[in-house]
Amino acid sequence: MFVLGIQGSPRKKGNTNYLLQAFMDEAKKYDTQTALIEVTKKKIVPCLGCGYCEKKGHCITQDDDMAGEIYALLRKADAVVIASPIYFYNVTSQIKALIDRSQALWARKYKFGLTDPARNYRQGFLLAQGATRGKNLFVGVDLTAKYFFDAIGARFNGSLTYRRIENPGDMAKHPTLHKDIKEAVKGLLSPFMKRKKVLFACRENACRSQMAAAFTQYLAGDKIEVASAGSEPIEKINPDMVEVMQEKGIDMAFRKTRFLNQAISELQPDIIVTMGCSEECPVIPDVQIQDWDLSDPAGKSIEFMRTVRDEIENRVKDLVKSMVG
Ligand SMILES: Cc1cc2nc3c(=O)[nH]c(=O)nc-3n(C[C@H](O)[C@H](O)[C@H](O)COP(=O)(O)O)c2cc1C
Repeated sequence: MFVLGIQGSPRKKGNTNYLLQAFMDEAKKYDTQTALIEVTKKKIVPCLGCGYCEKKGHCITQDDDMAGEIYALLRKADAVVIASPIYFYNVTSQIKALIDRSQALWARKYKFGLTDPARNYRQGFLLAQGATRGKNLFVGVDLTAKYFFDAIGARFNGSLTYRRIENPGDMAKHPTLHKDIKEAVKGLLSPFMKRKKVLFACRENACRSQMAAAFTQYLAGDKIEVASAGSEPIEKINPDMVEVMQEKGIDMAFRKTRFLNQAISELQPDIIVTMGCSEECPVIPDVQIQDWDLSDPAGKSIEFMRTVRDEIENRVKDLVKSMVG
């Protein structure tokens, strides 16, 4: 399971940093991979409001860290935790720039009608704190988080918010903080712990294993944790594969290829499904290996890519039925 934390305060050793670190430390006690985005250390160009993403499905700005890594991390995450101090009743401008740029994901969802396969199970969580104690202190940030999580395809799971936190060190002194975090992390992550784990493998990790992983996530990502990888991954996923999955309404944008050995050590799968190259897959004690013996559609016609896609979809349905009923 992959948990992404997004830290929005410019204050290096401030309260938000403490709050998010404590949350991520608790998350690490579960079976997780984690990553932290310090937004103030990233180059995030604010949204230009140009409407390009609504026409093309991706942002016109391509030379910053949103395009370089953050969209892909948002798409990879099972859980996204945003953390911010209250600045004028909302998040900081640095984190707001990231949020506004999620308009590109909003456009893929609402203008293009595409489904991010993880949308059915991804969770979002908000951490916020501010100096004052008015009853409306978190109204703005709560609404912003609600629509951000909707845009990135996450369910707003919950929030921890703290009033009267002002100077560095205040958050650390809060009497219920660690108990609150323990409970919140448990609620957020324990449903993921029950998932069985499947790794789809092929040589390049650009077509077949990507399609199989996406269909499995789409159909049963809440019950099955999925990864895909290749014995010799190539740089980018196959554009014809992206197109034929889009015909099915499935959004493959921002997916990356990865090495088989790394995926095996991170996921520790119960089952490895090879697409037709089982001889390249290492034999691992107690891990079941299935081979689907599918022809490689790379370099062939788009019609053939469609045939392989449909075959994979049917096989995934059978696999899901056999694993989770
Ligand atoms: C520009 C700015 C705006 C702020 N606006 C608010 C506010 O509207 N309401 C509030 O309660 N605190 C406000 N604060 C106080 C911070 O939310 C508070 O000090 C917080 O603990 C800072 O978190 P940090 O240490 O993670 O940066 C503001 C602080 C700054 C610097």
